[in-house]
Amino acid sequence: MTDPLLETRALSKSFGALAAARDINFRLERGARHALIGPNGAGKTTFINLLTGVFLPTQGKVLLEGRDITTMQQSARVKLGIARTFQINRLFRGLSVLDNVYMAVAERLGAGAQMMKPAGMRNDVVEEAMRLLDVLKLSDYAGHRVSELPYGRQRLVELAIALGLEPQVLLLDEPAAGVPSTESHIILDAVAALPKQIGVLIIDHDMDLVFRFAERITVLVGGAIFAEGTPKEIGADQRVRDVYLGKAHHG
Ligand SMILES: Nc1ncnc2c1ncn2[C@@H]1O[C@H](COP(=O)(O)OP(=O)(O)OP(=O)(O)O)[C@@H](O)[C@H]1O
Ligand SMILES: [Mg+2]
Repeated sequence: MTDPLLETRALSKSFGALAAARDINFRLERGARHALIGPNGAGKTTFINLLTGVFLPTQGKVLLEGRDITTMQQSARVKLGIARTFQINRLFRGLSVLDNVYMAVAERLGAGAQMMKPAGMRNDVVEEAMRLLDVLKLSDYAGHRVSELPYGRQRLVELAIALGLEPQVLLLDEPAAGVPSTESHIILDAVAALPKQIGVLIIDHDMDLVFRFAERITVLVGGAIFAEGTPKEIGADQRVRDVYLGKAHHG
């Protein structure tokens, strides 16, 4: 058997007396469409923070293609192909959409030094950034300041930045959070159209999105894996329905 793309073994994280991640054994396969769901405070964001190196675990391991990356710096993990978007967006709001995406692509292509000098913008980087904007239907907004965009489009810029890193693993923490329902379809469409070869783990409270997108679902409750299976299995699981599904939840 080959190693999964991303794997955790007995991963645990405590904040003082609070166990936010408990003994999590998880596998994300290559090209996966995997969702992580669970009530508010279940530890979903914490789990992503452990995968990306924002937090170091109290115990356990994180492996990328079998390689132990448990204690690796965030930036090194990005270089190995682990990209994420945040539950709350973190863009350079005063800069243009193109500049934001340019910086991500420039970083990957080693053109970081010329970053903020307009005269020094590299054509290949601009082209790649524009290609990504095109994929996410943001071309018309390239010259707009991020702060001028409707919120749903701002979240697409984050997705463009993550894709600009050419990830193998993409971790999406509530990509549609805060987006008005009239705009949320643009996020759904963009997520559905992500390149096939990327392993995607998405956190979301929108069960329509989750059940439409995911081929596999992991349910987290109280920091621990409560259930895992296909959407069909999870949808039919009465225990999962009792703790999470069928209740009104909000991200
Ligand atoms: N940096 C931190 N310091 C202390 N406690 C934290 C920290 N980050 C998260 N927690 C706690 O860990 C638990 C899990 O939080 P987390 O944000 O991972 O939940 P979540 O499943 O992402 O919730 P939501 O659906 O609301 O986003 C919560 O009790 C939270 O208060
Ligand atoms: Mg969260």
